[in-house]
Amino acid sequence: MSHKKFNKNILCIGAGYVGGPTMAMIAAKCPQYNVTVADINSQKIMAWQTDNLPIYEPGLLEVVKKARGKNLFFSTDIEGNIKESDIIFVSVNTPTKTYGKGAGKTADLQFWEKTARDIVRVAESDKIIIEKSTLPVRTAEAMERILHGKNTGIHFDVISNPEFLAEGTAVSDLENPDRVLIGSRETERGRKAIREVVEIYANWVPRDRIITCDVWSAELSKLVANAFLAQRISSINSISALCERTEADIKKVAHAIGMDSRIGSKFLNASVGFGGSCFRKDILNLVYICEHYGLHEVAQYWENVVTINEYQEERFVQKMIHAMFNTIAQKRIALFGFAFKANTGDTRESPAIYVARKLVEERALVVITDPEALQNAEQDLKDVRQNIVFESDPFTAAQGAHAIAIMTEWDVYKTLDYKKIFEGMEKPAFLFDGRNILDHQEIYKIGFNVYPIGKPALTHF
Ligand code: UDX
Ligand code: ADP
Repeated sequence: MSHKKFNKNILCIGAGYVGGPTMAMIAAKCPQYNVTVADINSQKIMAWQTDNLPIYEPGLLEVVKKARGKNLFFSTDIEGNIKESDIIFVSVNTPTKTYGKGAGKTADLQFWEKTARDIVRVAESDKIIIEKSTLPVRTAEAMERILHGKNTGIHFDVISNPEFLAEGTAVSDLENPDRVLIGSRETERGRKAIREVVEIYANWVPRDRIITCDVWSAELSKLVANAFLAQRISSINSISALCERTEADIKKVAHAIGMDSRIGSKFLNASVGFGGSCFRKDILNLVYICEHYGLHEVAQYWENVVTINEYQEERFVQKMIHAMFNTIAQKRIALFGFAFKANTGDTRESPAIYVARKLVEERALVVITDPEALQNAEQDLKDVRQNIVFESDPFTAAQGAHAIAIMTEWDVYKTLDYKKIFEGMEKPAFLFDGRNILDHQEIYKIGFNVYPIGKPALTHF
């Protein structure tokens, strides 16, 4: 494919939740650039070329369709595309390490390192390399060392440009970001590279929202942003435990504190716990770095954000067991939602995984329903599959159940005919609202025993 008519060739390695949508947006906003997204996973690449995209993200297909085949391409030819590119975004996955030093805490950089080695092996001209994946601070340095280790005379400028999009709202987050952060080395070359990257975003993002800094600050900002967001959730969730004991209402508390403009009202929804691929991983990364530098108190402080999240998940399960007369063996329990949040099919680190496994351990008959995440759910639970039913229809899922637990705040679960659902359930019927999305008084009036988060339970006995 000849790219001569374009004034820049952009490649993104990694066609996942970050790479796919980000490149689609760049291509749609910048018809003058040729954008290719490459991945080792050929199934994923094939899916990006159809109307059945490999990820569920509202509004994404429209953006993809605007550019696909014109200046947006998907490919498995990583090497060929590296050769042709001027700018390479790297958004391969960096899961938490499961083995060796730092297991369970630091990021597994093997995919990243492989990418760096691919680049250095085949590149024939100078390139700007942009870190998009969330990485531990100082990865750019390691990347630079690999890239320049071979002394080929080719120069690589390594830029950190962390992505702040949230799943489920990726398209609007990309279209209208609070800020775009770009970090580079503070050298003449580094500053030139930064200008090139700024130029890409300036096609649609107001200049005053594009901020530049040194590489380390950019890398660290991403971890800290996620740590602060997760901390808010753990803070409100910790208070939800207190509310349940003292008959205060967490929603009222959140509303009252959120009206203080210094605190702000967003991200104060108490829940069964936070999930998603970033929060836990990034906090544990932060903890690992702090430990590395001997900052044990700081490490412990942030680690508690994760501890409270685990506590919240465990507390939810214990509440279910306790409410249902201390045994759930052989009881059918329907989980409404499995995605880690609404409007995504992603289930990475979803609290529903933990809850489902615990219920299975207690020998409950678990039925899982979700509008978009059933396939991933089956994958996540494949080792305990024989004890779980996967059901796309929530009414069927709840038929004959002793309890419903709402795990994801999907809009469809807010407006179901709960009266009809109640009629088909075993009695006494329980509803555990892990996301506080229902009108609990109404549900109680139907006949359910209702257990919200951070509010006293409403029971008929
Ligand atoms: C997050 C960051 O928001 C984003 O900036 C970063 O780029 C990636 O990580 P994401 O994980 O997609 O995005 O979703 P987010 O909306 O942050 O939600 C994370 C988790 O917190 C979800 O499980 C969500 O249900 C939960 N949550 C969120 C709450 O429990 N309560 C809230 O008030 C908000
Ligand atoms: P994220 O949420 O960070 O985007 P994903 O797991 O959704 O993470 O996407 C990362 C993508 O990177 C996956 O599709 C994976 O196949 C791809 N990937 C991993 N290693 C490589 C590699 N060496 N070359 C190309 N793609 C890779």
